[in-house]
Amino acid sequence: MRLILLGPPGAGKGTQAVSIVKKYNIPHISTGDILRKNIKEGTELGNKAKEYMDKGLLVPDELVVAIVKDRLTEEDCIQGFLLDGFPRTVMQADSLDTELNSLKYELDKVINIDVSKEELIDRAVGRRVCKDCGATYHIKFNLPKAEGKCDVCGGELHQRKDDTEETVSKRIEVYLEQTKPLINYYEEKGILINIDGKQDIDKVFQDIVTALGRE
Ligand code: AP5
Ligand code: ZN
Repeated sequence: MRLILLGPPGAGKGTQAVSIVKKYNIPHISTGDILRKNIKEGTELGNKAKEYMDKGLLVPDELVVAIVKDRLTEEDCIQGFLLDGFPRTVMQADSLDTELNSLKYELDKVINIDVSKEELIDRAVGRRVCKDCGATYHIKFNLPKAEGKCDVCGGELHQRKDDTEETVSKRIEVYLEQTKPLINYYEEKGILINIDGKQDIDKVFQDIVTALGRE
């Protein structure tokens, strides 16, 4: 299955991605995770991306498109993939179309997770992420079993640098301007699924599976 996860910052894309890739046995391609890994490793790409990410701005299209192009040609993508956080601009969506055409891949569905603005700020500001494995928690909605420790690997939890109220507000503004138009873009292609993201994590996942039509 070839899927895209679309939705504003804090909508629950990363949270749902974990369950989706497990169920359908496809690789999870998160441009945000790839960029954060590059920052952690101090690569040239990471140093460039950091400037934009810390301010809540999008990293330039050409950098992100190159990452995804490379990743899609890897062998594990033959069976399918889940793109999370990409595309985020019409230019990225057009480049993706071109790349998929040349690989003779067709998208199955674009899952759009919808959540109100107030809830998004609460979710992102309360998010805690494992420093070691990247698993995501929330101080109110998704607590780890032991305070401050990851359930998966026991690693220490921390707050993402771009999860302050100010930067999250900026990210939402950027989403509304540059990414939201993609809802129409994929609706016109007839492959958009709208999911109510303001429900329990498990219910959101159930709705996604039902909408994909593959139990
Ligand atoms: P990225 O990492 O993609 O972040 P994002 O899109 O802003 O999304 P988030 O990771 O903040 O949220 P999410 O939807 O995954 O929510 P989560 O599941 O964690 O991008 C970061 C930056 O990288 C960008 O700002 C940009 O600079 C750059 N970048 C990345 N891709 C790019 C691209 N294509 N082009 C240009 N630049 C790019 O959930 C949030 C919280 O809510 C968690 O604490 C979770 O536990 C909780 N939660 C989840 N679901 C529920 C629920 N149903 N009920 C209650 N709580 C819930
Ligand atoms: Zn962990």
